[in-house]
Amino acid sequence: MPRGLFVTFEGVEGAGKSTQIGLLAACLQERGVAHLTTMEPGGTPLGVLLRRQLLNDANIRPNQMAELFLFCADRAQHLAQVIIPALSHGRCVLCDRFTDSTLAYQGYARGIDVAMIKSLCAITAGEILPDATFLLDIPAAVGLERVGKRKHGACFAEQGGVTAASVSPVATTPNFDGFEAEELSFHQRVREGFLRIAAEDPQRVIVIDGLLSTGEIAARIKTVMMRILER
Ligand code: TYD
Repeated sequence: MPRGLFVTFEGVEGAGKSTQIGLLAACLQERGVAHLTTMEPGGTPLGVLLRRQLLNDANIRPNQMAELFLFCADRAQHLAQVIIPALSHGRCVLCDRFTDSTLAYQGYARGIDVAMIKSLCAITAGEILPDATFLLDIPAAVGLERVGKRKHGACFAEQGGVTAASVSPVATTPNFDGFEAEELSFHQRVREGFLRIAAEDPQRVIVIDGLLSTGEIAARIKTVMMRILER
């Protein structure tokens, strides 16, 4: 069955994925390529609830295995409700994080058996594998610093306004940021994990130096995408 391209973006916190997804989406739009941008966790209404539970509620923390299954639950729903229907309509899907994040965060960083996670991801995703994955690689400390600065700016912007937390149906904990609260060594293991995944699958995973300028990264992504679209 002909289907659209499935393209994922991966990297440590603050690697610049969302900026690049936005730029690539604009480029596809200009070229008239039907596409959709989405994310994990949180690409569906159920996913929004799971995302808040995973990342914003410090009071009810899932244990490591529960966390793994919640990410898989988010993915199962996301595949069924968003990714598979879009691909089968021939649309190009740009997804912020997918199975490589589960391997890097729950596997290489948390320490859950990587082979087991690979099987679980294969069961969840079935035959849906990314056609290409852009890994924006930056040192973990640089990413965390970028996220910290962004947060500081956002705090000022939100003063006096309605925040997501204030309209949320799920209790969230102010200032609790899930994985950003983990220590630096955790994020270093995430980075190493991603690089290992890329080394094992160089055909699919394109590693891009995330310290390059936004424009240079966008140009590299565009070049690879144009090549893939012409295939
Ligand atoms: P998000 O705010 O989207 O982070 P980012 O902007 O860096 O993508 O939060 C998603 C978080 O969830 C991020 O810290 C990575 C983590 N995550 C996992 O641990 N496992 C997974 O399978 C996925 C999809 C994400």
